[in-house]
Amino acid sequence: MTEVSVAKVDAAAPGELVVLKSVNKHFGALHVLQDIDLTVERGEVVVVIGPSGSGKSTLCRTINRLETIDEGAITIDGKPLPQEGRELARLRADVGMVFQSFNLFAHKTVLQNVMLGQIKVRKADKKKAEENARALLDRVGVASQADKYPAQLSGGQQQRVAIARALAMNPKVMLFDEPTSALDPEMINEVLEVMQQLARDGMTMIVVTHEMGFARSAANRVVFMADGRIVEQASPDQFFSNPRSDRAKDFLSKILHH
Ligand SMILES: Nc1ncnc2c1ncn2[C@@H]1O[C@H](COP(=O)(O)OP(=O)(O)O)[C@@H](O)[C@H]1O
Ligand SMILES: [Mg+2]
Repeated sequence: MTEVSVAKVDAAAPGELVVLKSVNKHFGALHVLQDIDLTVERGEVVVVIGPSGSGKSTLCRTINRLETIDEGAITIDGKPLPQEGRELARLRADVGMVFQSFNLFAHKTVLQNVMLGQIKVRKADKKKAEENARALLDRVGVASQADKYPAQLSGGQQQRVAIARALAMNPKVMLFDEPTSALDPEMINEVLEVMQQLARDGMTMIVVTHEMGFARSAANRVVFMADGRIVEQASPDQFFSNPRSDRAKDFLSKILHH
């Protein structure tokens, strides 16, 4: 038998779903992401925290290529991010994103919002898309709102629809960028509960949030960013009880005692 030489490929290890290696990005003179190395395992929930302006949103946006990077590499499920076209649309579907502002289509009903991407990007037929949409709306607790328009829903309901819409694409990973920051206090928990359930169901999640209760209970790992760098990462227990860096200590004292 002849020996088969295995070509060395620059792919991620089997458990690794999102891998950033030496990622750098500038906005003009501002070095907004500095040598970011981050690996997120399949099924892992990573909470990203840090002061405003530290690059958390930019980090999320590079992962689904809403922003390009200057240096380094990002792979999703072992594949580098596609540049453009249909491949890019598919990537965006594989990487579900939920923003602070819900970004629902205002002139489509809740049901249509959740059906649309399935039909356009995933090429699902209408009946399947509707079935799936109704099941997802039920899962996030807004099944009875299906025929309303986004403006007729509360902020918490709209954000849950936005989560259902992202889930409808059957994503490999979900990114949440401060999903509860724009909500009235009484609506925050209903959104966090949906995210908690998603985490329990095994979804891979990267969550930027100031909700430390969520970080403590749902995160496998906390990543602390400041000034475009990952300053430290640790388990929530370790991070909250014993932050190592002065930046993290300072940040925690500000958010936990106000
Ligand atoms: N499109 C942009 N053009 C120029 N500067 C930007 C842009 N987006 C973000 N920034 C700047 O990059 C830095 C990091 O922003 P951001 O990633 O939004 O931080 P965070 O989400 O942690 O608050 C900030 O100083 C912000 O003003
Ligand atoms: Mg931000």
